[in-house]
Amino acid sequence: MQDWNQRAKQFSVWLPHLQAATGVLLEALKTRQPLSKGSILLDLATGTGEPAGTLHEQFPECTVIAVDNAVNMLHMARHRLQASPAGLYLAAMSGQALALLENQVDVCVSRFGIMLFDSVDQGLEEIARILKPRGGLFFTVWSDPERMPSMKWCHDAFAGKIPDDAMPHLAKATAMGNRKATQSTLQSCGFDQIEITEHELEFVFPDFSAYWECVIHSGIMQPQFEQLPPAQHDDIRQQIESMAQPFIKQGRLQIPHAYLCIRATKAVV
Ligand SMILES: C[S@@+](CC[C@H](N)C(=O)[O-])C[C@H]1O[C@@H](n2cnc3c(N)ncnc32)[C@H](O)[C@@H]1O
Repeated sequence: MQDWNQRAKQFSVWLPHLQAATGVLLEALKTRQPLSKGSILLDLATGTGEPAGTLHEQFPECTVIAVDNAVNMLHMARHRLQASPAGLYLAAMSGQALALLENQVDVCVSRFGIMLFDSVDQGLEEIARILKPRGGLFFTVWSDPERMPSMKWCHDAFAGKIPDDAMPHLAKATAMGNRKATQSTLQSCGFDQIEITEHELEFVFPDFSAYWECVIHSGIMQPQFEQLPPAQHDDIRQQIESMAQPFIKQGRLQIPHAYLCIRATKAVV
């Protein structure tokens, strides 16, 4: 698994590429869940503070609590969000053991976090516990591995060259892309009124070198590179560059990543 504490400083290079998913989450939230003054919103696995920061701007009369289990990510969030503005609170917590009372939160959101939990079921049960009856859950997850190109390239380039336990966790990162399985997991964890829509995030770079700079700077493939002698690093770059060729369009590298936006309501029994 990624060590998010180690990746925290450089993670923000990906933020512009992920921002459109916040817009999709906000739209879903606005059309489905009426919020009133004092509503409590929880951003789970907030990382460097998204979508918590945007929620705080959009709903200034609500309280936003942003949690993550990687303290370094929260330090970056505090820095990026200019300390803690009133009404926005950051806290270190595991999504699988939330230090919140039951029936306390109106809405829970998460952008590309929940599928990474060690136990997704435990996380969803925790969310159901802390949500108010009929409270809403809105989150995004990656779709299937074939439509998650940048992680698939990394997976394919390193396959057979490094130990299995150092391979990127492509299967885990995309497991919730299976709609049927995700729908049934949500139901068994206490949710109903489940809606799933598919969307695409296009990561656009002026060329392959700019993409590669981002990969290296963010350290996203560092756990894999650490397993290979430096003399072989350039081969990996060349392999990935050739996998990226079909995505060069109009002189730019345009990488589409499919993802799902999932909305669900805490069931009342
Ligand atoms: C891909 S990042 C997404 C961060 C942010 N939501 C965004 O979209 O920019 C995933 C985040 O999930 C957090 N995370 C992973 N497992 C977690 C858990 N069990 N509890 C809380 N946070 C977790 C990581 O620390 C990391 O910050």
